Amino acid sequence: MTFPIHRPRRLRRTEALRDLVRETRVSAAGLIYPMFACPGNKVRVEVSSMPGVFQQSPDQIVEESREVADLGVPAVILFGLPEKKDETGSEAASPTGAVQRSIEAIRKAKLNLVVITDVCLCEYTSHGHCGVIKDGEVLNDPSIALLADAALSHVRAGADIVAPSDMMDGRVAAIREKLDANKFTDIAILAYAAKYSSAFYGPFREAAQSTPQFGDRRSYQMDSANVREALREVALDIEEGADIIMVKPALPYLDVIASVRERFDVPVGAYNVSAEYSMVKAAARNGWIDEQRIVLEIMTSIQRAGASVVLTYHAKDVARWLKSC
Ligand code: PBG
Repeated sequence: MTFPIHRPRRLRRTEALRDLVRETRVSAAGLIYPMFACPGNKVRVEVSSMPGVFQQSPDQIVEESREVADLGVPAVILFGLPEKKDETGSEAASPTGAVQRSIEAIRKAKLNLVVITDVCLCEYTSHGHCGVIKDGEVLNDPSIALLADAALSHVRAGADIVAPSDMMDGRVAAIREKLDANKFTDIAILAYAAKYSSAFYGPFREAAQSTPQFGDRRSYQMDSANVREALREVALDIEEGADIIMVKPALPYLDVIASVRERFDVPVGAYNVSAEYSMVKAAARNGWIDEQRIVLEIMTSIQRAGASVVLTYHAKDVARWLKSC
C-alpha cells in the first residue's frame, strides 16, 4: 500500500523534524585543513587561484594553526616548498625544511591539533615528478626509499600521521618499515590509496610549485575511468600497513568513496582538492552561487558517500558556519 497511507513529506514539515531524521550530520570533527609551508620568516603569499589559501613560513603556519584549533578543526596537513629543488628532491627529508620546522613550531606552541604531513617528492624535485627519474621514466623502488626518509624526518619533527601521496608501489610498506625500525611504531599512515590522475589538481600545483616539467603523472596516478582498480589499490595499501585510506579527488569520485567504504573496515578519507575549491570560490565571487550552502552541501555529499575524514580548504569556513547555525 502506498499513497495516501505513505506521505514522506510528513518528516520534512519542520526544521525540527528534518533535524531529527537527518542521516548525515556534517561536523567539523572529521575535517583536516591543508596548509603550504615555505622557507623564511613572516612570509604569507596568497595563492592567486585559491583565494584564502597562502604559502607561509613556519611562524605564520603556527598562527593559522592556532586559528584552526580554536575553530574546532582537529587536524592540519602540511605541504612543503623547498629552498632549492634538485633531481632527487633531497630537501624533502631535511630536518630544517619548512615542513619540519613548522611541525616543531606547532608542537612548541602546544596546540591541540593532529599534525599530518604530505609525503611526496614533487614539490622538491626540479622536474616536478613524484619520484626520481632515469631516461625519462619515474623509477619506483629508488623513490620509495627517499619517501621513507622524508616520512621519518617528519615524524622526528613531531608529526602524528604521515600521508604518502606519490602513488609509487610499495611505499606504504617502505614507510612502515622505516618508522618501525626507528621505534616509531605508534605513528599512523594515511595512504592516498586511490589517487587519480586529475585536472582537479591544477591550482594546487601553483600553490606547491609542483607542475611536472615534462610529461604528466599518468604512469603512476590512476586512470579516472577505473573503480575496481581503486579497490585493489586500497587493499594493497591496507595489507602494507595503512591505517586510514583516502580517495582523491572527492566530488567527481563519490562512487569510488562509496565502493571503498562498503568493502573495507578502516577509516575512509576523501580529499576535496584544489580545483573543487577554486571552482566554488570563482563562482561565489561572481555572485553566481551561495557559497555557504554550496559548500555545506558538498561536505554532506562527501560524508554521505562514506568518507568520515575529509581534507578540505573549506575547513575553517565550515567550522565557522556550523558554529553560527
Ligand atoms: C602531491 C600532491 C598533489 C596533491 C596533493 N598531494 C598534487 C599532484 O599529485 O599533482 C593535490 C591536492 C590538491 O589539488 O588540492 N603529489
